[in-house]
Amino acid sequence: MLLQHFERTTTDRLLLRAVRENDLDAVFALHSDPTTNRFSRHGYMETLDDARRVMGLWLEDWARDGVGYWLVERLEAPGVVVGLGGLRHKELEGQRVLNLAYRFTPETRGSGYATEVSRVALALAARHLPHVPLVAIIHPENAASIRVAERLGMRLDRHITEDDIQNRVYVIG
Ligand SMILES: CC(C)(COP(=O)(O)OP(=O)(O)OC[C@H]1O[C@@H](n2cnc3c(N)ncnc32)[C@H](O)[C@@H]1OP(=O)(O)O)[C@@H](O)C(=O)NCCC(=O)NCCS
Repeated sequence: MLLQHFERTTTDRLLLRAVRENDLDAVFALHSDPTTNRFSRHGYMETLDDARRVMGLWLEDWARDGVGYWLVERLEAPGVVVGLGGLRHKELEGQRVLNLAYRFTPETRGSGYATEVSRVALALAARHLPHVPLVAIIHPENAASIRVAERLGMRLDRHITEDDIQNRVYVIG
């Protein structure tokens, strides 16, 4: 399946582009910040090797599925990664789903970037991958993330436990 429309797109303020090999430092910077990753299932990254391993998976997503996580740059500041967003396929309770993610630098919080990026992801998924259920897996105390999901029109569907952590599963409308 060729899904070029996912690889690179823009919004009014942002460039969304597939993660690539030379993003290692940007991925590490975003994921090694303890506050940003307070609710991440695996906590925050401590070494570049952690980033390398995760990036390996994300590069494979793009090569195999034609869809995966984006890194996000501001159009007014090209080349500077401010966050991550978008969709990757994931196995959840034996079902193949699209997992929606958003994670931004502390400096850009409150700017609505997560919502802006996710709206594009939801629209692309509705158009090109309508048969794959789309979920957002959110820690019950992650109030900002829950607000974003609700603003996107997602609703709490159920709870799941992965690695002994109970999270909420939000689904579309
Ligand atoms: C989730 C995240 C991407 C949202 O960023 P953002 O789009 O800049 O979101 P905002 O700062 O605009 O906040 C979204 C909403 O949550 C509210 N909010 C933010 N922090 C909050 C908090 N600590 N407690 C309660 N509400 C909070 C905001 O008031 C806003 O609601 P409003 O628009 O009704 O005022 C960002 O907080 C982030 O990167 N967090 C770390 C990574 C993460 O947890 N990702 C999600 C994993 S599921």
